[in-house]
Amino acid sequence: MNKFVNKILIGLNGEIVVPADKSISHRAVILASLAKGKSIIKNFSKGQDPLSSLKICKSLGVNAEFENNNLIINSTGKLLAPTTYLDCGNSGTTMRFMTGILAGQKFNSILIGDESLSKRPMKRITEPLALMGAEIKSNNYKAPLEIFGKNLHSIEYKSELSSAQVKSCILLAGLQCDGVTKFSEPFISRDHTERMLKYMGANISTNGNTVAITKSDLEPKTIEVCGDISSAAFFIVAGLIIPNSKIILKNVGLNQTRTGILDVAKKMGGNIEIIDAREISGEPVGDIKVEYSELKSCTIEGEIIPKLIDEIPVIAVLATQANGTTIIKDAQDLRNKESDRIKATVTELKKLGADIEETTDGFIINGKTDLIGNCEVETYHDHRLAMSLYVAGLICQKPILIKSFEWVNISFPEFDDLFNNLKA
Ligand code: S3P
Repeated sequence: MNKFVNKILIGLNGEIVVPADKSISHRAVILASLAKGKSIIKNFSKGQDPLSSLKICKSLGVNAEFENNNLIINSTGKLLAPTTYLDCGNSGTTMRFMTGILAGQKFNSILIGDESLSKRPMKRITEPLALMGAEIKSNNYKAPLEIFGKNLHSIEYKSELSSAQVKSCILLAGLQCDGVTKFSEPFISRDHTERMLKYMGANISTNGNTVAITKSDLEPKTIEVCGDISSAAFFIVAGLIIPNSKIILKNVGLNQTRTGILDVAKKMGGNIEIIDAREISGEPVGDIKVEYSELKSCTIEGEIIPKLIDEIPVIAVLATQANGTTIIKDAQDLRNKESDRIKATVTELKKLGADIEETTDGFIINGKTDLIGNCEVETYHDHRLAMSLYVAGLICQKPILIKSFEWVNISFPEFDDLFNNLKA
């Protein structure tokens, strides 16, 4: 589906409820599937990625049905051997989490993914899992992954990458092992898995950048999923760069391991306020007020990177509207996401007229630049690229055409409708 995007002349105004967090939805359905009894997941994401996790849990014998807006999971706490391939679609989170679980089962299984997921690196999980006794055959460390279920044993693993997917994979394997499994990472990545495991009664503790887990039975729970700050990010950036905008984003997750975009936007001079901070199912939540702002450049590097890793393409759009040179570094793992997000962002924003250069681990962006548009742009099968380009299109002098815009459905099917509500 091609999408035309035109310049907004009057600003964005009003309030929207941000749809459910993708990361938390994956964890909710996967962990509820491991808990014996009935769990209720309120506000489960409608994105295709969490639906891939749901489908796989069902293929492993878990009973899951939607009742109104609630996903009801009934599980025996034990997974059953699948009768076919388990298809993770475009979802790296599904593949990496399920590998950690399936490696320790009494049966064999095969995980497959779409074209983009089949190009993504899996050595980061198969290597530590092998140290735990796992047996996994891969296509040169890429999907499909053929998993031969084994009795796993605990390890202490120091990861060179700061990655919540790797961390969660090892914690989910460790949940099945005798002894203490420890995982450390250079900088702390999102901690939703640790929080939810704790909320469901697992024996887990965190000390700095190290998490320790031992074998535990999970308790079924009611889990309410908050709004996704990674989805809110597109509205935050649009509100900051479109003159006369004033918007309120309701019910957004404000977990400190995810709020790097707010820290950066404030550092750049963005007018952002948190209203009504509260907690839902063990996660901090609040409403965010954003207004159009004069912005200045900044440097984004080091420990903040995992806290805004998925927001970097749209932060690049933000930087085109900030006075001065914005430098983003230490983000080389962006090349391993749904697309090579460094190359893709630079190539497409250049077409619009941005002054942006690629480095090995990030970008150099000079602003403030009037974006011209009047061109076609590509999404590279990448939902976050599609949405970042849409936001850029809202400030281009001339319309742009985004090709294959349907990729937004991976995380945010409501995206265009919610933007239209604010344009009215
Ligand atoms: C995710 C972790 C991040 C992020 C991805 C979702 C998660 O990946 O980019 O979109 O839900 O744990 P990495 O852990 O590989 O950095």
